[in-house]
Amino acid sequence: MLIKKLTVEDINHDLLKKIYHWRFNVYSKYFSNDFRPSYKNHIEFLNRAISSTNEIWFGLFIYRNNDEMSFAGCASIYNFKNSECEFGRLMISPSHLGHSYSRKLIFFIINYVKDQLSADRIKLVVKSDNIYATNVYISIGFLLTKTGKLNEYTLNVN
Ligand SMILES: CC(C)(COP(=O)(O)OP(=O)(O)OC[C@H]1O[C@@H](n2cnc3c(N)ncnc32)[C@H](O)[C@@H]1OP(=O)(O)O)[C@@H](O)C(=O)NCCC(=O)NCCS
Repeated sequence: MLIKKLTVEDINHDLLKKIYHWRFNVYSKYFSNDFRPSYKNHIEFLNRAISSTNEIWFGLFIYRNNDEMSFAGCASIYNFKNSECEFGRLMISPSHLGHSYSRKLIFFIINYVKDQLSADRIKLVVKSDNIYATNVYISIGFLLTKTGKLNEYTLNVN
């Protein structure tokens, strides 16, 4: 398994297609924003996001038998301000669910936030009926800070 910060060099059709497919086909019900961009807009959005200074994307890759890596998950942090950042876009490939890969990805990101951004807090929102993601966040130590259709969770990292 490899987890890394994504750069423009990592953006290829496999990665773009997977993120689009997971977000707008397989997992759309887990996200609150119903807007569905065209694939072309999605490519532009990701390229812009990954080059932005206020947003960082992370990728999780799994080694196949032949030593090739398969893109299997992602998440991002954004809106860095006042020692705080937001976390979101967490998705693990349907064929890789159930191995706690999301926890590994989130721990990697927490360390990145501490070491590279020197931020104190990570915030996220999650639909209140999204049990799978909520369980992951609680198991890591995120605390419920606002309730509603969307619940807000916060983790103090320092
Ligand atoms: C949240 C998410 C990343 C967790 O994935 P994960 O790290 O593989 O989850 P876990 O390893 O903790 O899985 C625990 C169990 O729940 C099951 N599970 C996890 N997510 C599932 C899903 N979306 N659908 C069905 N079952 C799921 C796993 O198969 C596993 O079952 P098992 O104990 O019988 O083996 C994943 O559910 C996902 O990508 N969800 C869609 C996107 C999403 O909700 N993002 C968060 C938005 S705030």
